[in-house]
Amino acid sequence: APAPAPAAPKLGFAAVSKSLADVVSVPAGYTATVLYRLGDPIASGVPAYANDGTDAAATFDRRAGDHHDGMTFFGMDASNTWSPSAAARGLLAMNHEAITPVFLHPTGQTTTGIGNAQVRTVADEVLREFYLHGVSVIEVGKGASGWTYKQDSAFNRRVHTLTEMRFSGPAAGTGSLVTKFSPDGSKTRGTLNNCANGSTPWGTYLTCEENWAGYFRRIAVTDNPNRSAKELASFSRYGVAGTGRELWATFTPDTADNLYGRWNTEVISGAANAAADYRNGANTYGWVVEIDPFTPGSTPKKRTALGRMGHEGACLGPVVAGKPLVWYMGDDSRNEYIYKFVSTKNWDPADVGGGLAAGDKYMDDGRLYVAKFNADGTGAWLELKLGVNGITASNPAYAFADAADVVINARLAADAAGATKMDRPEWTAVNPKTGEVYVTLTNTNAAARPITATDAANPRFYNDPKGAAAMAQIGNPNGHVVRFADAGGDPAALSFTWDVYLFGARATASADVNLSGLVADNDFSSPDGMWFSQATRGLLWLETDDGAYTDVTNCMLLAALPGQVGDGAARTLTNVDGATTRQQATFVGKAPGTDGLRRFLVGPKDCEITGIAESGDGRALFVNIQHPGETTPVANLANPALFGSHWPDGGNARPRSATLVITKDDGGLIGL
Ligand code: FEO
Ligand code: CA
Ligand code: CA
Ligand code: CA
Repeated sequence: APAPAPAAPKLGFAAVSKSLADVVSVPAGYTATVLYRLGDPIASGVPAYANDGTDAAATFDRRAGDHHDGMTFFGMDASNTWSPSAAARGLLAMNHEAITPVFLHPTGQTTTGIGNAQVRTVADEVLREFYLHGVSVIEVGKGASGWTYKQDSAFNRRVHTLTEMRFSGPAAGTGSLVTKFSPDGSKTRGTLNNCANGSTPWGTYLTCEENWAGYFRRIAVTDNPNRSAKELASFSRYGVAGTGRELWATFTPDTADNLYGRWNTEVISGAANAAADYRNGANTYGWVVEIDPFTPGSTPKKRTALGRMGHEGACLGPVVAGKPLVWYMGDDSRNEYIYKFVSTKNWDPADVGGGLAAGDKYMDDGRLYVAKFNADGTGAWLELKLGVNGITASNPAYAFADAADVVINARLAADAAGATKMDRPEWTAVNPKTGEVYVTLTNTNAAARPITATDAANPRFYNDPKGAAAMAQIGNPNGHVVRFADAGGDPAALSFTWDVYLFGARATASADVNLSGLVADNDFSSPDGMWFSQATRGLLWLETDDGAYTDVTNCMLLAALPGQVGDGAARTLTNVDGATTRQQATFVGKAPGTDGLRRFLVGPKDCEITGIAESGDGRALFVNIQHPGETTPVANLANPALFGSHWPDGGNARPRSATLVITKDDGGLIGL
């Protein structure tokens, strides 16, 4: 049996230098290999990916999607049953958040027209894009030549924007989810912009729908005339406005089952009847979706009790028999909130392996809360429920009607409750040693967080000196990490204490910007992905999705050994800009030093590092490289020398999002 993790772990690798090279760099003594790339086939008979835009569109439901993001490793034993400690075989479930359209088709997206009249004209291109979003489930295993995925495994599956899904929880079967596809509001098609992830103690995968709003077409001047004031308020609050990110709604002719028209919220049927069109289409996205990876034919469920928002992820809290289960969630947009969902039912370990039926038990019935951070280091969880915290029919901003209205418009309910607007809540992570919860607040700008609107939990306003783009870098350009401890260690508690664990910054920044005392071996900007290793108990992985520090370095992965809430001294931020006095950060965690935070990996050009998981023994670490070269203009497609990246295939290849597997050459635990 492998040696257990040491009781007092220490970071055991030499820091990787910042880099602008088009490679993946890991510490000496480690090897990173590419496991699963955009377009890789996951069924027998599907040809290898040509990666020149000519791969048949109809094969993409059996290929890896694009923009690999959050993922979970489900260890599997010889009887194909979930075995969390399994070290050499398992199912890897992962999100494919979005696409880099320039590299998916022969010459980029084909369109005609301009402005609101711009339309897509090639059905195969749109079909590829439908399939390239969503989720992969793949079987992976460790053989004589290392880790590979099994192309012909019966467990391999793609979930995408055409996959049928059922609703459950308070909004299921209500009028707001009625569409032409589902006149009883019980189901929908697809999942979209799946960013971070989560898991359950019964062995299923959670995928979280983040920036779905932008995919819907809604041109205000041609709004459905039957819209109510409440519907318009909801559109406005969720940002459903514009031409639709990939113009999917514009392809004509539509199919009999409205594959394209369902993205058009304006569709005017001439009837006042929602079942005649897709005016509610946007309500069918923005959810946490549960997928049972061990049952490939199962229908995923959108768990509406967890609220509708720009869900980043859903991190499971401490699992204790006889106690409620809890998931902590960020809503990633500027000035959005942090939430938790607490189950009504207490955890019964007999439900392990219970699949989606266990989800019905624990995730459809519970309480949804939003966080309020007080300046004194305390905080409160405000329940989002009809009749409390201002969430009533007489609320002046939005007249809440029922439980479905509250979860569908969770952002408006959180506004009514008076929650604290945060600097873009990305991933949540729960320390397995303490139960404390960490939240990455990736960054924000001066428009969303002017100096007069800073507060203790979002205290920064300064200028990051990134060359000519300096003026765009004012506000909180480098982000920070907040953490909190639910009172009494009880995840169902209604209060918490909190501090700031870490502030991103350039090592060269002045001390009143570089508040965590970062140095060359651990400076970073824009924390996003974040996850506690279970095998090492206490090792925190931190991933970046940055645009502020990218004049100096590509995005990165760092390893950390954090202390506990309140372990730093109280400090007052000074005013470096000569403007209004800043708010005070009540508790700033102590500087981590290089023993507490160290750079482990730097990715290729123009990528984000996101998604992380480990084998059951902690001796293989899976990390996703998302969208290398994504800002390549379509005009450069004819000349490979002008691609923003050629990773991972090198030469003249188009770049591909891909999963890495990282192992230590001596077979040891990763990072220690
Ligand atoms: Fe998809 Fe908030 O990152
Ligand atoms: Ca993210
Ligand atoms: Ca991000
Ligand atoms: Ca990204």
